[in-house]
Amino acid sequence: MNRLLTFFLFLSITFFSHLNAAVYKGQMEFLAECIGCHHKPFLFLETKTKSWWKKEMSEKGKSVAYIHIKSLKAKDSWKYFRSKQYSKKARHLSDFLQEYAKDSGNIPIFD
Ligand code: HEC
Repeated sequence: MNRLLTFFLFLSITFFSHLNAAVYKGQMEFLAECIGCHHKPFLFLETKTKSWWKKEMSEKGKSVAYIHIKSLKAKDSWKYFRSKQYSKKARHLSDFLQEYAKDSGNIPIFD
């Protein structure tokens, strides 16, 4: 019994720390690449729901990249949104954005 419990504990710890690692990577990316233009991350993240982020950040963040590439105001981000770095990190960004979406009940802590 004890052994089984330990096993489950171990499983959930590895599972959750893996999850958090993805969110954390997304947060680092957000702080490095998005916050320069999207100041006040609380307000910004809170404008969208989880399902919005999930949808818009699917397929390697295609829609969100498109929002920027079609906007002259976002010109400085074009290079980034076309880069491999973005398409690689889109999944982590998506995890992070959903984690702190309007309906997530979570508040991001930026340290
Ligand atoms: C160079 C500045 C810049 C950077 C960097 C940038 N954005 Fe934007 N973003 C904008 C501008 C400007 C708009 C508004 C575009 C428009 O509607 O014309 C925008 C719009 C958006 C929207 C749509 C908002 C809405 O209400 O529909 C989302 C979502 C978004 N950005 C997410 C991100 C994410 C995620 C990152 C980082 C990976 C990022 N942005 C990086 C400038 C930037």
